[in-house]
Amino acid sequence: MPEIRELIQEGKGKRVYATDDPDLAVVYYKDEAMAFHGLKRGRIIGKGEVNNAICEHLFTLLREHGVENHFVRQLDARQSLVLRCEMMPFAVKVRNRVAGSMHVRTRLPVGMKLDEPVLEFTLKDTDMEQDALVNHTHLYAMKAATPQELEEIRRVSRQINAILSEYMREINIELIDFKVEFGRYKGKILLADEISPDTARFWDSKTHEPLDIDRFRRDLGDVAEAYQEVLHRMMGTGF
Ligand code: C5P
Repeated sequence: MPEIRELIQEGKGKRVYATDDPDLAVVYYKDEAMAFHGLKRGRIIGKGEVNNAICEHLFTLLREHGVENHFVRQLDARQSLVLRCEMMPFAVKVRNRVAGSMHVRTRLPVGMKLDEPVLEFTLKDTDMEQDALVNHTHLYAMKAATPQELEEIRRVSRQINAILSEYMREINIELIDFKVEFGRYKGKILLADEISPDTARFWDSKTHEPLDIDRFRRDLGDVAEAYQEVLHRMMGTGF
């Protein structure tokens, strides 16, 4: 068990700590919830434990399908050990249907199925009220990634979308969109951060009810129950 050291980063749903091993970090998943860039805050009881379990599940699934990622192992109900990456300063959003900021930006109707997945890059750690949407040339100008790295990130993001969409379909959940982050680790690009109802839109396949953070954002109620339901369906697959 590595010794936990200083806080490296605190996000809306988790804290990341250094350890006495420079190659490893510990992620602590919080119950706190945040939306609209911090304008709305609250607490979803049990969310930290559920997200820790969902991340273990999805990172393991992705690794089995060839997507290298930072996950090492769960330490306890709320904490996991991960490889300590040098995080890229941008996130990737992948969308299969129109929702959220894509609706605001394009005015396409919420729920419209996209003929092919839409990929977006947004900058992290800005103090803007909206996620700053950028294209590949901005990222080159910022020296945030090389063309080869970005090509790899695009390829892996599409692969993650294909793997997760198919897996979620089996448990009657439609993957509407998600956000992922990548980091560099010993010369490789690794999927890092988290994939959970905090960072993805999961709709029940039949009813199209959201089973994710949108329940909190939009005051739809039963937020903790929706997170539990996602985990319950994943566990039911026996994977
Ligand atoms: O808000 P938007 O439609 O751009 O979000 C797309 C996806 O990215 C959603 O699944 C949302 O939960 C996720 N997201 C995130 N962190 C942000 C912004 C969006 O995980 N800061």
